[in-house]
Amino acid sequence: NWTMENFIETEITRIQQLVGPTAEVIGAVSGGVDSTVAAKLMKEAIGDRFHAIYVDNGVMRKNETETVKKTLDDGLGINLTVVDAADEFLGKLKGVTDPEKKRKIIGNTFIHIFERVAASIKPKDGSEVEFLLQGTLYPDVIESISFKGPSQTIKTHHNVGGLLENMKLKLIEPLRELFKDEVRHLGQLLNIPEELVWRHPFPGPGIAIRVLGEVTPAQVKIAREADYIFIEEIKKAGLYRKISQAFAALLPVKSVGVMGDQRVYEQVIALRAISTVDFMTADWFEFDHKFLKNVASRIVNEVDGVARVTYDITSKPPATVEWE
Ligand code: XMP
Repeated sequence: NWTMENFIETEITRIQQLVGPTAEVIGAVSGGVDSTVAAKLMKEAIGDRFHAIYVDNGVMRKNETETVKKTLDDGLGINLTVVDAADEFLGKLKGVTDPEKKRKIIGNTFIHIFERVAASIKPKDGSEVEFLLQGTLYPDVIESISFKGPSQTIKTHHNVGGLLENMKLKLIEPLRELFKDEVRHLGQLLNIPEELVWRHPFPGPGIAIRVLGEVTPAQVKIAREADYIFIEEIKKAGLYRKISQAFAALLPVKSVGVMGDQRVYEQVIALRAISTVDFMTADWFEFDHKFLKNVASRIVNEVDGVARVTYDITSKPPATVEWE
C-alpha cells in the first residue's frame, strides 16, 4: 500500500541504485519547498555526493541567502554552495523594463552561472558529476505538456535542457509524481522546518517582476522591505497558511503625500494576496480593514521612498497573480 513513509524508502533506494556507488549529483536550490524537499531526499540517499547550489540573483526576498544557509547547510546538513551573483544579474537588468525580457535575462544568466559553478565542483576522489536534480512536481509535468500560452516562460528554473545537453547530465526528478500538498507532507516527514514547508511560492525572476519598470538596487530594496513588512504582519495575524501567495509590488509612479508637515512626492506600493487551488484562477484575499490599515501605515512610515499603499482587488482572470 502507498504511504508517504513507504515512498521515502522506495525513492531513496531507487536514487541509490540509479546514481550508483560513486557518481555525484548537482541541483539548484531556491529556498522554496520543492527544491528543498528534493535536496533533502538526495542528502538522505547519497549524503555529500549531492551538491546543492544556491544562486543569489540580487532579486530574492529579504535575508534569503542567510536563511537558506541556515536551513539547508546548518540545519539539514546539505552540502551547499552559495553563489553571490547579485551584481551580475542587476548589471544585466540595467535599463530593461519589459517583463518578458526580464524573465529571459534572469533565466539565461541563471543557467550560465549554474553551469560555471557546476563545472567548478570537483569531487575529491575523481568521480564525476553525472546527474542533475530537479524539484519538478506532477502539475509541472502536466503543464509543460499541455500548456502553451504566454506563460510558457513560467518555471524558468525548470528550463534545464541546455544544462543537460552541454554538461551531459542525466535528470533525476524524485517529486515528479507528487502534488504540492504531498510534497509538504513529505517535507514534514523529512524534518524540514515548518516555516519552509508552508512557504508561499516565489517566482524564478523574483522581485525583478515585482519592481515594475527598471530594476535598480534602490527599487529592489524598497519592494523587498515593503514585502517583508507585509509578510511579517500576515504571519503575526495567523493568516499565512490561509493565503496561497502574498507580496508587495513597487509601482513606477509617484504620488503626493504629507509626512510630518512636509509635502512628499514618492512611489506607490501595491499589496497582493490571493487564495487559489491551482494558480490558474485566483481570488484576492479579504483582509479586515484594520489589518490593511496597519500594514499601510507601517510601510509608509518604515520604508523610505513610499508615500502610498494600495491593495489589489482583482481576481485572476482577468489579472494575473504577478503584476508583470
Ligand atoms: P501569474 O502571474 O502567471 O502567476 O498568474 C501564477 C504563478 O506563477 C508564478 N510565476 C512565475 N514563476 N517564473 C516562475 O518561476 C515566472 O516567470 C513566473 N511568473 C509567474 C507566480 O508567482 C504565481 O505563483
